[in-house]
Amino acid sequence: MSEIRTGLGWDVHRIAAGRPMILGGVTVPCEFGLEGHSDADVLAHAITDAILGAAALGDIGMHFPDSDARWKGADSLVFLRHAHDLATQRGYRIVHVDSTIILESPKLKDYRQAIRERLAETLGLEIDRVSVKFKTAEKIGPVGEGRSAESQAIVTLEK
Ligand code: C5P
Ligand code: MG
Repeated sequence: MSEIRTGLGWDVHRIAAGRPMILGGVTVPCEFGLEGHSDADVLAHAITDAILGAAALGDIGMHFPDSDARWKGADSLVFLRHAHDLATQRGYRIVHVDSTIILESPKLKDYRQAIRERLAETLGLEIDRVSVKFKTAEKIGPVGEGRSAESQAIVTLEK
């Protein structure tokens, strides 16, 4: 009988001028971006944690500490691929990824397909197994005031 597991991921990054806005491995044209040790891909980080969570393999900081110079400016799809490899080695396969990016601006809906394709390709999944949603924070709180971006993800694994 197959075993089904679910993992939860969440992340937040500060918004800063002069930084790229990379979401799910896709660079979104924008006059500001996300601050962080790596490329600050808030969506990739949340999905990475969701995979690690479902497989009970710790969290992203355990595998890729931000004190390690190797990960400075790192492409976060490397983290995602690594988490997927670890889960695969333990006999799991990803059934489905669902996610939400919470960002006041810019509008992201025109990038949904590109982000889904990039994530699906990185995880070796059919695109209909990868869902990416967007929300504003209705101008409330740090996200709503344009000071940060958050992401949430949930991943289903099957063994
Ligand atoms: O936050 P709100 O409910 O107003 O978002 C409405 C819709 O706007 C979302 O369902 C999403 O399709 C889109 N959106 C977007 N980019 C954002 C935030 C929301 O495309 N940064
Ligand atoms: Mg992060």
